[in-house]
Amino acid sequence: MSLKKKSNGNSVELKEGIENTGFQEESDNESVASSKKRGSEGSVCMHKKENEYTQIKPYAGMPKEVLLLYSRQARYRVPREILFWLTIACTLALLALTITVIALSPKCLSWWQSSPVYQIYPRSFKDSDGDGVGDLKGIIEKLDHFAYLNIKAIWISPFYKSPMRDFGYDVEDFRDVDPIFGTMEDFDNLLAAMHNKGLKLIMDYIPNHTSDKHVWFQLSRNNTERYKDFYVWVNCTEGNPPNNWVSVFGNSSWEYDPVRGQCYLHQFLKEQPDLNFRNPEVIKEMKGIIHFWLKKGVDGFRMDAVKHMLEATHLRDEPQVDPDQDPATVNKEFDLYHDYTYTQVGLHDILRDWRVEIDTYSTEPGRERFMVAESYDYAEIEKTMMYYGTRFAKEADFPFNFYLLYLPEMLNAYRAYQLVDFWMSNMPKGRWPNWVVGNHDKPRITSSAGPQYVRAINMLLLTLPGTPTTYYGEEIGMENVNVTVIQDPFGKFDPNASRDPSRSPMQWNSGLNAGFSDSKNGTWLPIHPNYETTVNVEVQMGDPYSVLEQYRTLSILREKELALHRGWLCYVWKDLNVFAYLRELDGLDRAFLILVNFGQDTDLDLSSVKELPDTLTVRLSTHPIEQKSFPKNAIRTTTGQGLLLQYSSNQRFHSNHASECYVAEKACYLSTLGILYKC
Ligand code: GLC
Ligand code: MG
Repeated sequence: MSLKKKSNGNSVELKEGIENTGFQEESDNESVASSKKRGSEGSVCMHKKENEYTQIKPYAGMPKEVLLLYSRQARYRVPREILFWLTIACTLALLALTITVIALSPKCLSWWQSSPVYQIYPRSFKDSDGDGVGDLKGIIEKLDHFAYLNIKAIWISPFYKSPMRDFGYDVEDFRDVDPIFGTMEDFDNLLAAMHNKGLKLIMDYIPNHTSDKHVWFQLSRNNTERYKDFYVWVNCTEGNPPNNWVSVFGNSSWEYDPVRGQCYLHQFLKEQPDLNFRNPEVIKEMKGIIHFWLKKGVDGFRMDAVKHMLEATHLRDEPQVDPDQDPATVNKEFDLYHDYTYTQVGLHDILRDWRVEIDTYSTEPGRERFMVAESYDYAEIEKTMMYYGTRFAKEADFPFNFYLLYLPEMLNAYRAYQLVDFWMSNMPKGRWPNWVVGNHDKPRITSSAGPQYVRAINMLLLTLPGTPTTYYGEEIGMENVNVTVIQDPFGKFDPNASRDPSRSPMQWNSGLNAGFSDSKNGTWLPIHPNYETTVNVEVQMGDPYSVLEQYRTLSILREKELALHRGWLCYVWKDLNVFAYLRELDGLDRAFLILVNFGQDTDLDLSSVKELPDTLTVRLSTHPIEQKSFPKNAIRTTTGQGLLLQYSSNQRFHSNHASECYVAEKACYLSTLGILYKC
């Protein structure tokens, strides 16, 4: 079959000899005329065409006229229109659904919120080369420990090149690894191995000072132009510091430098000169270091000693705490109020700036870069809270919450409540809490609180809302070690302040050097003898009442149970003996009641708490007990016991006791769909 239509004497042949009658050239006068005609006499024209093509059926590649002829018939037009409107309706419905889902989805927790942070002090974690000092390869060997503990965020204390006067907090080169810890290649391998296992690496970033061996200091002390003002130099003569400022580690914070003939400031050791953060070149250099490590792929930073970064330029004496003290004897940090050396105006601008830099690496979901600030502000908690930043200018994801470190000083349950509430009631609304019970600067819990309280303190740490931080060894209840030859520079100034006892090697097993090292010549600090019997990872594995197994169970529960993960915290009871709080989530009947006993054996009667059911089931007890459940009018705990009870209730405590409750990253549960939504 072949159809021909004349067009200017030309015709276009189609497949199978069919001519494309729809194809017309613009210059085609006849066609223009006919199309005009079609406009006014459409039906006539149609009629004519109908006649013209009645002999054919629709076929692929048919000419427009044929197509139109058929497509206008109701049996083609109606389904087409139905499909069209259906498509529009579906698109709109999908759009509406997407907007609703976005609007109702609660924020997903970031990795630094969902996992505890584990602090490794690299000198003491694992020694791979038998020199008695831990190293980066050693950490690689032990990564499975974190899978076991269900921990995904690891903060490693400094491993930069350093003369080790303050064991790595005196940095000689921010872009290199100290040979005692390994090489840059070891670091790259460690980071890759960690990322392979889904672990995040948080580095220590030490902005306040460098080592006096750092090339910047060497160039600064001999007045090399660009580096002249990299540190805080002041005119003085030997033995006559410019004012009464004292270092954290004791004695004057000024040191006369014979090379330059001036004094430089050091808020820590004299081998740790303070950088001058009023110099834009210093700001630039230090930012460069942040980029250097972020580009390598590290996941975050712990910002060391940030409150010390700026000092008043007027250099006035700081007021004495005891005005009657002989000024000549003022030589300790707490002899002075640090009005001119701590938390000076401008400090937060620096942190905000870092945040902006760091956030440029946080674009991929799951690869958010984390920032935590270290600042001990004691009673002045509002200073600490400043590091959260504001709604418009973010700083750290959180500043470390050190307040639970003060629990052992006055160990009772009411104090525990007060310290928890001190943070919760001062934290800016909507921010994420966190809890620290130990670190490389403080005694271990077992030693400060007593071994009978370790499990309960770990339970507190892991069942409060927010991120727990665990110092290596706390998961097995390691104790402070006796050190005869003091290594810590702070300990050399004041033996009572020595931090060596809490920095002893990790106790992995009961073998040679607790499995920490193959060294035949001992380890850099002695190992606690209790490694041979009860305090090592291997011996505690599998024992449900060991500190390790309980830590692990709590860490897993914390992740798995929504109410623990992101539910409300409400105080239910507090007295000297027992602090009881619950964790609940709107829409979820399953909730938890936690009791920690830091006093005497107690039968707690919670019958007046109407939101609790009559019976609560034991989910975890730090001490062996026979009961599988407790009636709510007699919940028994003994000294040092932590008890995690599970219950089911459709009444929410927080609805009736708003002043006793807090929630971070609020979300509600829709049980019919099994999802969380914003509420
Ligand atoms: C921080 C560290 C501490 C160190 C000091 C100086 O406080 O935690 O160990 O000595 O800064 O860098
Ligand atoms: Mg080693």
